[in-house]
Amino acid sequence: MSDTPPIRPYWTGPRLRLRAMRVDDVDLWLAEEHDDHEAVHFLHYGTPLPTTRRDADAFAERYVDFANRRESIMWSIETHDGELVGGINLRSMDLKNGTFQTGTRIYRRHRGRGYGLEAKVLVLRYAFFELRYQKYEVRCLATNDPMVRHMARLGATLEGRIRRHVYTQGDYVDELAYGLTREEFEARLPDLEGASD
Ligand SMILES: CC(C)(COP(=O)(O)OP(=O)(O)OC[C@H]1O[C@@H](n2cnc3c(N)ncnc32)[C@H](O)[C@@H]1OP(=O)(O)O)[C@@H](O)C(=O)NCCC(=O)NCCS
Repeated sequence: MSDTPPIRPYWTGPRLRLRAMRVDDVDLWLAEEHDDHEAVHFLHYGTPLPTTRRDADAFAERYVDFANRRESIMWSIETHDGELVGGINLRSMDLKNGTFQTGTRIYRRHRGRGYGLEAKVLVLRYAFFELRYQKYEVRCLATNDPMVRHMARLGATLEGRIRRHVYTQGDYVDELAYGLTREEFEARLPDLEGASD
């Protein structure tokens, strides 16, 4: 008997699959940009001008089929039935220091089911175990309660609070900095993969 671990299906979790972003995914993205005020606020750190069709087309052109993958690797997240539920990317990939960040967005009607965490575990597996990065770093607004809960569930450490860092809605908001090392991720994996079953 060999001790070689079995080769697992890499881009598939218990309920979700990650695949390259396609041009037709951008229509739902644009609709959410127009109507999901909370996500826009948390992702843009404030109130941007309304997203235009041209912005959406430029976004598609830049990232479909893993174009510009050195800048950002963009996946669409879908259920096993092929329903598009959101997107996730790997970015700020720093080869010298081995650090990286992600951006995650689950569309409104699919939140609160653990989809964000399931997709993130697939991306972190890839970043840590294939690309050999050593530390995951994330920043978010301190007012982003779903993200704060998401990072706690992941097992990330709150490493800092940058006070009064962002000005929006007439006030200053703190930014939170989280980190998770490869070793910490490995230790959390059995629980994380059990939780998203
Ligand atoms: C942050 C975000 C990605 C989290 O996505 P999500 O899929 O809702 O969150 P998680 O995967 O962490 O899911 C956990 C939630 O699902 C619930 N859940 C239900 N079934 C579950 C299951 N089978 N497994 C795990 N969690 C489950 C959990 O109880 C938890 O609920 P809670 O948040 O009310 O405590 C999402 O809120 C989002 O897209 N926000 C807008 C964009 C944004 O802010 N991005 C981050 C910018 S820094």
